[in-house]
Amino acid sequence: PRVGILISGRGSNMVSLAEAARADGFPAEVALVLSNVPGAGGLDRAEALGIATATVDHRAFKGDREAFERAMDEVLRLNQIDLVVLAGFMRIMTPWFVRRWEGRMINIHPSLLPLFKGTHTHRQALEAGVTEHGCSVHYVVPELDAGPVIKQAKVPVLPGDDEDTLAARVLVQEHLLYPLALADVASGRAALVDGTIVRR
Ligand code: GRF
Repeated sequence: PRVGILISGRGSNMVSLAEAARADGFPAEVALVLSNVPGAGGLDRAEALGIATATVDHRAFKGDREAFERAMDEVLRLNQIDLVVLAGFMRIMTPWFVRRWEGRMINIHPSLLPLFKGTHTHRQALEAGVTEHGCSVHYVVPELDAGPVIKQAKVPVLPGDDEDTLAARVLVQEHLLYPLALADVASGRAALVDGTIVRR
């Protein structure tokens, strides 16, 4: 399948996915990197990797979320994208887009879901006093950060950790986890069927 990676910023997860997808036998091709932010750092990194890029600026749609998503969907369709991978994409999708891509759209969230949904997950973990934290790749469903989890990676929370040290430790694992999860999805090993993951 042809993968479209959606980003909003530096795109470090996009880079690790693009590099993993170059390996012989990887079951997907990264065909497009699409950003909602013009000039996002990840766009330059994608171009340096020889990947087609596009920008759909959400600000051009003045709060009409569905119009913005229809514009993104058009770009994905023109590039014959089969699978949408959200990687540091900072827009909440409406049910319209999610329903169109349900079962073919995944996201990485920097917590051990269902713990710590939403933003500032590392702060949430520190405030909760957990000793274990991590990241989750999940199918996207209309409810935020609530989709079935495909794969997770764990890290310890260490004494003296602050948000930055914890985020950095989690990010290392994100870069290892996401390519493995994408391979499971792209190969059909972890399919979403009636809201649950069927493993083959
Ligand atoms: C990462 O922490 C990821 O978990 C979240 O967005 C952050 C930035 O990701 N989804 P990236 O460096 O832009 O890939």
